Amino acid sequence: MIEFILNNQSVQTNEPPGSTVLDFVRYHKRLTGTKIGCREGDCGACTILVGAFDNGKLVYRNMTSCLMPLINAHGKHIVTVEGINQSALTPVQQAMVDANGTQCGFCTIGFVMSLTGFVMNENHSTFNDAIKMIDGNICRCTGYKSIERAAQQLSEQISNKRSQQNLEWLIEHKYLPVYFLGIEERLKNIHSIFNKSETALNIGGGTDLNVQKHHLVKESSINNLFDDCSLKGISESNHKIILSASTTVSEFAESTIINNCFPKLEQHVKLVSSTPIRNMATIAGNLVNASPIGDMTVFLLALDADIIFNTGRQINLNDFYIGYKQMDKHENEIIHQIIFNKPNANSIFNFEKVCKRTHLDIASVNCACLLRLENDVIQNIHLSAGGVAPYPKYLKDTCQFLIGKILKAEVLIQANQIMQNEIAPISDARGTADYKRLLLRQLFLTHFSNAESLVESTLANI
Ligand SMILES: Cc1cc2nc3c(=O)[nH]c(=O)nc-3n(C[C@H](O)[C@H](O)[C@H](O)COP(=O)(O)OP(=O)(O)OC[C@H]3O[C@@H](n4cnc5c(N)ncnc54)[C@H](O)[C@@H]3O)c2cc1C
Ligand code: FES
Ligand code: FES
Repeated sequence: MIEFILNNQSVQTNEPPGSTVLDFVRYHKRLTGTKIGCREGDCGACTILVGAFDNGKLVYRNMTSCLMPLINAHGKHIVTVEGINQSALTPVQQAMVDANGTQCGFCTIGFVMSLTGFVMNENHSTFNDAIKMIDGNICRCTGYKSIERAAQQLSEQISNKRSQQNLEWLIEHKYLPVYFLGIEERLKNIHSIFNKSETALNIGGGTDLNVQKHHLVKESSINNLFDDCSLKGISESNHKIILSASTTVSEFAESTIINNCFPKLEQHVKLVSSTPIRNMATIAGNLVNASPIGDMTVFLLALDADIIFNTGRQINLNDFYIGYKQMDKHENEIIHQIIFNKPNANSIFNFEKVCKRTHLDIASVNCACLLRLENDVIQNIHLSAGGVAPYPKYLKDTCQFLIGKILKAEVLIQANQIMQNEIAPISDARGTADYKRLLLRQLFLTHFSNAESLVESTLANI
């Protein structure tokens, strides 16, 4: 039986584990404040807050309920707009009114929930943080400026919030109802329910499966990998970084270990989906999704990562993909860990992505590079690209050509020719094959734009 707290109500249900939280709250609990827009994680109308323990601490994140499998709610606090409503508007709701941040109102609940997630966050309190938190919410009416003003008003209001006793402050100032104080203790009384079955459908955050195979998910028995403790956590050992499979993209982005490896991590990760999707999307889900443009896959390919399965089998990520959506993976094999060498101090890592809009869009082409230069000689290089082949591509021939070469414009021109022979982009909604070839060339050159031996003017002439 699935057990969780919905707003202030303890819930036990035998509804299908693969049905969505959105359908449960609207159709079983008649909590119709949460809206249905796209049902594909794109619009944010269905945004809820999900409170779960993270290293023993209760942390709330905004998520899209249309993609969240009901089983993933087990042991958590699910908060819909009804769960924050009080006798008067909350300061978040009031800010939306004051700033004229709502017109038709369809998107408004989603914005209110994401902005409530912003004020609840202990680490983020600036206007920019508020804007980041609503990067998964779309409004077709307001033009966003009024919503931005509401976000500005809120960031000013919480500027004197104490990070200690955060919850008490939020309750005192009517952002949250008082029942929030008892949630942590109540959640501790819910026991985990992990039974893995060989025949059940493996699901991480559900952000791919619930878009592609919604009916299958609903009708299947489910292995909830998202909350499997053995698949959680990031560690470092003997100069290797070990990512557990169900690490979410947000956890990856927030990890001190990972940030120490990649100084521009925030810049890279903000190009991946949106905050609510990153809060749900797992790294293993990105690998097994096998999308030709999977961002985290391209990222990890350039790190020459290995995959370790629950069976103990270990393979290089580059050998994992064998065709369009085809992988060297037995049906019931579960990815347990992803391991890569910690980039050394002399290495430069870069990730580039071009898509039609900044957030919530998949790449036309993406490209990652790990480069080690010594006295302008390329000691080692790993390059990967998405959107240019039936699966995320490790650019093996280009790498082999570049190793040992002096980094100069002529070498890059030759490398580009080799790279163009390694790829086979197709024309589709994200661009023509020729456009993608041109994009990859430009992204490839961008990786070297900071190299001292290649002044910008030289690159511009290529
Ligand atoms: C609105 C939206 C925007 C998106 N934007 C991007 C984007 O910008 N870039 C991008 O790369 N992707 C994007 N995605 C795709 C998706 O979010 C990612 O691929 C995500 O990482 C999938 O992870 P998940 O845990 O949700 O996968 P799930 O849907 O849970 O699972 C996907 C597949 O992985 C399998 N699986 C999961 N975990 C394991 C495991 N441990 N072992 C074996 N198999 C496993 C499942 O069985 C399933 O076949 C977007 C999706 C949405 C809905
Ligand atoms: S309904 Fe659009 S994101 Fe869920
Ligand atoms: S107010 Fe209408 S969609 Fe935002």
